[in-house]
Amino acid sequence: MQVIILPSAAAIGDYAADVILRGVAERPSYVLGVATGSSPLPVYEALERRWIPELAGISAFALDEYVGLPYSHPESYHSVIDREVTTRLRLDPNRVHVPDGFADDPAAAATTYETAIRDAGGIDLQLLGIGGSGHIGFNEPTSSFASRTRIKTLTPGTRSDNARFFSSPDEVPLHCMTQGLGTILDARQVLLVATGEKKASAIARAVEGPLTSMCPGSALQLHPDATVLLDEAAASELTLRDYYRFVFEHRPKWQR
Ligand code: GLP
Repeated sequence: MQVIILPSAAAIGDYAADVILRGVAERPSYVLGVATGSSPLPVYEALERRWIPELAGISAFALDEYVGLPYSHPESYHSVIDREVTTRLRLDPNRVHVPDGFADDPAAAATTYETAIRDAGGIDLQLLGIGGSGHIGFNEPTSSFASRTRIKTLTPGTRSDNARFFSSPDEVPLHCMTQGLGTILDARQVLLVATGEKKASAIARAVEGPLTSMCPGSALQLHPDATVLLDEAAASELTLRDYYRFVFEHRPKWQR
């Protein structure tokens, strides 16, 4: 795992945009895994600012969705992805996919989602944030490392973290549909972004803690091409943070 500590959220956005734009320019049928939450917003801002025509041809798959929220609800991830990703990056809406948490048969919809990812050729780069519980996507603690897209029950902590987007905490859905940890680990490249002190403990557990389903983010230790982009605050509980800085400053030319 590569850990890169950058001076600001804007610098993180630019770094991630560099990686994504390089991939998109090289591969016209690029498949981008997109995440919701506030952490990836600087990445979308940078991509919007540095838009290239090739972006209009990529496909995108969202990580997760609430179960039971109508697609038109402003906080459904269908709406969030449409607002923050599809519109801003001028993607083709027919090639942007979000798990169907409002389906009559959510279990069948989850299987269909897995098939759609496979049919698109798999995800080239999965963008991730991390929750306070260590979740990635909505894979809450004790999620299997082999899990695929499925229904999960949100922890009280995640519901309270996400209550800020709803008019009352009771409005936050109890259930969600999320790509599994196995689905995320299948992406060819993974980029996790985290900023702020509130993420420091989850980051330390995911990057340096034991591999454990109690911290779903620790599954990324199994990924052959995972990069974690952090600001100073999110990196503050990492034991080896000076080493990560040294590694980045001394990275060989071919890695730059
Ligand atoms: C939600 C999303 C996650 C996201 C997390 C953190 O729970 N399902 O994908 O990583 O929030 O959000 P934020 O980046 O706003 O802290």
